[in-house]
Amino acid sequence: MIGDGITDLEAVQETGGADLFIGYGGVMERTKVVEGADWFVKDFQVLIDALPRWKVAMIGSGAFASSVAQMISYNAASKAAFNTRVDMYVYDEPYGDTTLTQAINAMHENPKYMPGVKFGDNVVANPDLQDTVKNADLIVFCAPHQFLKNMCQQIQTVVKPTAKAISLTKGIHISPMDGPQLLSTMIRRMLNIECSVMMGANLANEIHPGGLCESTIASHSTEDGEVFRQLLETDYFSIRIISDVEGAELAGALKNVVAVASGFCDGCGLGENAKAAILRQGLEEMRAFSKRLYPTVRDETFWESCGVADLIATCYGGRNHLVSQEYAKRGGKASFEQLEKELLNGQKLQGVLTSSEVQAVLQIKGWKDDFPLFMAVDAIVRGLFQPKDIARYRTVAAEAELKDLHHVNSEPSLLEKRLSVTMKL
Ligand SMILES: NC(=O)c1ccc[n+]([C@@H]2O[C@H](COP(=O)([O-])OP(=O)(O)OC[C@H]3O[C@@H](n4cnc5c(N)ncnc54)[C@H](O)[C@@H]3O)[C@@H](O)[C@H]2O)c1
Repeated sequence: MIGDGITDLEAVQETGGADLFIGYGGVMERTKVVEGADWFVKDFQVLIDALPRWKVAMIGSGAFASSVAQMISYNAASKAAFNTRVDMYVYDEPYGDTTLTQAINAMHENPKYMPGVKFGDNVVANPDLQDTVKNADLIVFCAPHQFLKNMCQQIQTVVKPTAKAISLTKGIHISPMDGPQLLSTMIRRMLNIECSVMMGANLANEIHPGGLCESTIASHSTEDGEVFRQLLETDYFSIRIISDVEGAELAGALKNVVAVASGFCDGCGLGENAKAAILRQGLEEMRAFSKRLYPTVRDETFWESCGVADLIATCYGGRNHLVSQEYAKRGGKASFEQLEKELLNGQKLQGVLTSSEVQAVLQIKGWKDDFPLFMAVDAIVRGLFQPKDIARYRTVAAEAELKDLHHVNSEPSLLEKRLSVTMKL
């Protein structure tokens, strides 16, 4: 019972009259009420402090994870809904004469992946993954997708059954048993908890106070979407919530493949008309691929930040574009692995791996003829064609199939190779 009138006070004194009494008058303190109460509170703040608070864990500490940690640390420290402390899992590595974890805890920033972006001192870096998540109510996944399955295996036994997750990770998981799987589905199944996603035009190094950035949270539960919006939104990072998890997540993963194509285009100096054509076709293939895999995917999702906006940002400023542009400039003579090491300072390239995963899906489903741009990117990445051939992606796709046929009896199939790679990760 909640009230502040005389009858309410009397009701408290009746057996079974009231379970909870909150009075706002403050005129008198009745001894009988005080004595009979299990818990008597006079200060409103004490009541607020006693409310259950979401405890947050962040899995990941790369460039984007560090930008997001800054926003989470601010919200956790300033909003009553959250426990102030935020635990952050760090895949530890040496840093100068110390470790990256120790450096983060001493400097309250990630000096390797996002120097200069300060977290509050409420963010505690931890190299022990299980320890990081064991008390968490909200788990934010933001590690490169090739490490996610292994991480989920490690924390399966310690995650609270009531925890909620959100994935900021972009990519597709290919399961040898079930074929393509969304990362949020993998997290949901492996940990038996709900998983939302956040995707958008969010280049890590451009997210800062005073800036403008938008993102999309997609969740099957309105309540979960709102909790994560409270956790992640700031006045320079605004979020819209939608329910199309599958569309948002696939858009986030697939745009990295288009970014590789746009890098080839820029690296070869093909010009803005060509790049616009690549982006248009890329968006169309992203939409068609997503809708074929999940017929519930909505066209409108591709107009959100997670759709066309993320595609534009990634194809002009992202790391996948940067590396594939350099690959093209060097005429395909340096490997992607080498360029990743040289240009990304430990950050992970996603587009090339996602391209290979998309190919596995096209092959399993027999859809190869309908996705010429995705096919051409894969053929160029595998060295069957030159980066400049992206300009004739429609014919490359058809020719690539013929080239692959020549190899069919001499080597393990492309799909077998791809599955063996993804199974090892
Ligand atoms: N960087 C961006 O601008 C951006 C923006 C939006 C979304 N994303 C997505 O966020 C996710 C994380 O990206 P990021 O930028 O935070 O990371 P990153 O690519 O900057 O960093 C790589 C991270 O992987 C860790 N790592 C390396 N080897 C590992 C291993 N064997 N096991 C576990 N971890 C290992 C490193 O310690 C580092 O924290 C990706 O899916 C990415 O697509 C990135």
